[in-house]
Amino acid sequence: MTGRIPENILEEILSRIDIVEVISGYLSLKKTGRNFKANCPFHHEKTASFMVSADRQIYHCFGCGESGNAFKFLMRHERMDFPEAVEILAKKSGVTLPQRENPESVKAESLSNKLYKINELALGFFENNLISPAGASSRDYLLKRGIRQETVKEFRLGLAPGGWDNLINFLRSKGVPLSLVESAGLVLIKDGGGYYDRFRNRIIFPIFDVRSRVIGFGARVLDDSLPKYVNSPETPVYTKGKNLFGLNLSKDFIRDSDCVVIVEGYLDFIIPYQEGVKNIVASQGTALTVEQIKLLKRYTNNVVMIFDGDQAGEMATLRSLDILIDEGINVRVAPLPKGMDPDVLVRRSGPEGLKTKIAQSLSFFDYKLDLLKSRHDINDAHGKSKIAAEMLSTINKFDNAILKCEYTKKLAEAIKIPERHIVEELNKIKPLQNSEAAGPVFKKKRVEINPAEKLLVKFMLEEKELIEKIMQELSLSDFQDERTAKVVSAIQEMAVQGKNIQPNFLMNYFSEDEATQFVCETIFMPDLDDQDREKAVNDCINRIKVDRLKSKREHLHNEINAAQVSGDEQKLNSLIKEFHNLIKKGD
Ligand code: GTP
Ligand code: MN
Repeated sequence: MTGRIPENILEEILSRIDIVEVISGYLSLKKTGRNFKANCPFHHEKTASFMVSADRQIYHCFGCGESGNAFKFLMRHERMDFPEAVEILAKKSGVTLPQRENPESVKAESLSNKLYKINELALGFFENNLISPAGASSRDYLLKRGIRQETVKEFRLGLAPGGWDNLINFLRSKGVPLSLVESAGLVLIKDGGGYYDRFRNRIIFPIFDVRSRVIGFGARVLDDSLPKYVNSPETPVYTKGKNLFGLNLSKDFIRDSDCVVIVEGYLDFIIPYQEGVKNIVASQGTALTVEQIKLLKRYTNNVVMIFDGDQAGEMATLRSLDILIDEGINVRVAPLPKGMDPDVLVRRSGPEGLKTKIAQSLSFFDYKLDLLKSRHDINDAHGKSKIAAEMLSTINKFDNAILKCEYTKKLAEAIKIPERHIVEELNKIKPLQNSEAAGPVFKKKRVEINPAEKLLVKFMLEEKELIEKIMQELSLSDFQDERTAKVVSAIQEMAVQGKNIQPNFLMNYFSEDEATQFVCETIFMPDLDDQDREKAVNDCINRIKVDRLKSKREHLHNEINAAQVSGDEQKLNSLIKEFHNLIKKGD
């Protein structure tokens, strides 16, 4: 991970600069097709093998393998450290970095105050609009969704009118400079110059910080059109991963009940809150971040997660579970049936319906095990080992040895494997866990990357839809190479957070050069046409599954040999049985 500068800031910087322009400042680049070329500055060469991709915003040398995004180029070429490179490009792109101890922070401070004021003015405008005659159909919509008038007032809901410049004209009449309105994320820049309103013809859900200052807005369509929500971008006063929707209203209730219910959406907060479940916050549809959890820890250590009963909800829940446990939170999960969310539940069965779900919530162990059982066959050796690997990666996050021991025992019972083997697997995780940032288990050997793994990563980077498909078929432990596993894990994390998975952003998630180099290599691999692609994806998935089985078999084979040598009859029998099962499955 990249120290203290949040990824979203790094992404903002990278999306505002052009790597071609940055590198042109140091090398003379020649255009070849869609890419640019130069003699590599990192090793001696006579023919140019240093490539820069404008589309992907990365560079890669085919000669020496040096590769990366714009930050990495400055670090290598100018021998800067990471924060220096970030600072240079932040300045160039006009992005404000999180405050540091320097005179800039004084300026940033007063900028924040201006932005709060502008947001407040804008919110007043939206609120008035909703109660004006023009807001009649929107008021109807809210009533139909079960939101009462007092609730509209308490949450300060509003309406952004249709049209391109209603808010602009309002703020202009108040003497607010448009450049500041842009910094507040309320307007967008037109292609030909000038601005237009970001939020148009949408219900406005203002987002407050804990001190009830307006920091951003979520805006929902009134019908089924897409995108359903348009949200404020990150601004100097709004960092998405640092804020939880509704906490300003619910924090005292959370402290008093010593428990917080975490839901996904705005409506999933508003309806339960209105109906009396007040110790609640909304994550706004993404996995939780460490910063959000630290914020919650001021009020309680007990969390119940109620995410939507869909694939995205499951992924976000699993991801959040690990982070919550890592932060020492006592977490339970209340799963919902497919298609259900807390808003629908409360409207259908009242607050009691939701309270019942909360009372029946599962421990992380039972929740995750149930989920894994639905994905893998718990009666089969291969399935058991997958389930164990995924469970152990979470169990390993417990700091408390007693909890760890208890869960290991439970896991042994659940998959019917002697506990000592589970402990053996758990112990394999530990040494790496210390050197590695929180994340799944990586204990892979260093070999040439399997071409199937390489190709799958390329596809995942090119087509977001494929990520879900691929991850339904394979789990992280199926990737034999440490580098692929790391890259895939970062891709998954970005997907769960609903981020744009650009390779130049992806690199901010790992610091290893080898993983970066690997991503860059995949990008310059030749493209396939659509038909070939679909087949290639399936072939790669199968190939990886077959390889996985093969190495499992080899491993068992060795173990059988060892058991024969040591004369452990009982172990030998069970290994042979396992071996037969495996062969049946493979053929
Ligand atoms: P309703 O459909 O009105 O009930 O809204 P919801 O809040 O239940 O929406 P959903 O469960 O689909 O999504 C949960 C949360 O994810 C939302 O509250 C938003 O914060 C976020 N979200 C959903 N759709 C979008 C989208 O299209 N764009 C963005 N940026 N965020 C979204
Ligand atoms: Mn909903």
